[in-house]
Amino acid sequence: MNPAVPEPSPRTAPKPAGQDDAGPTGAAPKPGADCALASREEVLEALNELLEAERAGARVAMETAREIPPSALASLVQDIHKDEVRWCSMLMRTINVLEGAPSSATGAFWGKAMAIPDLEQRLSFLNRGQAWVVRRLSALIPRIQDAQVQADLSAMLEAHHINIERVATRKAVDPRAERG
Ligand SMILES: [Fe+2]
Repeated sequence: MNPAVPEPSPRTAPKPAGQDDAGPTGAAPKPGADCALASREEVLEALNELLEAERAGARVAMETAREIPPSALASLVQDIHKDEVRWCSMLMRTINVLEGAPSSATGAFWGKAMAIPDLEQRLSFLNRGQAWVVRRLSALIPRIQDAQVQADLSAMLEAHHINIERVATRKAVDPRAERG
């Protein structure tokens, strides 16, 4: 069992930024019966799970960008790589602040993605992994008490919405990317 492996779901359509139930940019709902604050252990476990997934995503983006000649697509994948690295740093910093131990593992998503030779199919798989991160963050953020941690995770959520949209929009306007 590896909880760090994003499991792509057929339901991959991301919600538009700002329209998640959890409110990625707004105030989180007050803890209630169905939204109890997460314990420190739960938070650390979730952050390490996300860290391993982001490390996998960063590696997929870096290695995929190397396969693409200079182009708008290459720039997009490089942007995604930078973001994934940024979130790895934020997650490690947050885990350290919470006096946890950042995982050094890379999620198995990396190997699964790189086993897909077709670029378009791999990017679709990457986007489904990003959607998995969105779902995890949306569930976690309302259960976080620390305002700074909540703000950092909300920024990560928002950036994931944007990158998912960038990949999806590119596919929609590039006929070469259209596949049956
Ligand atoms: Fe990511």
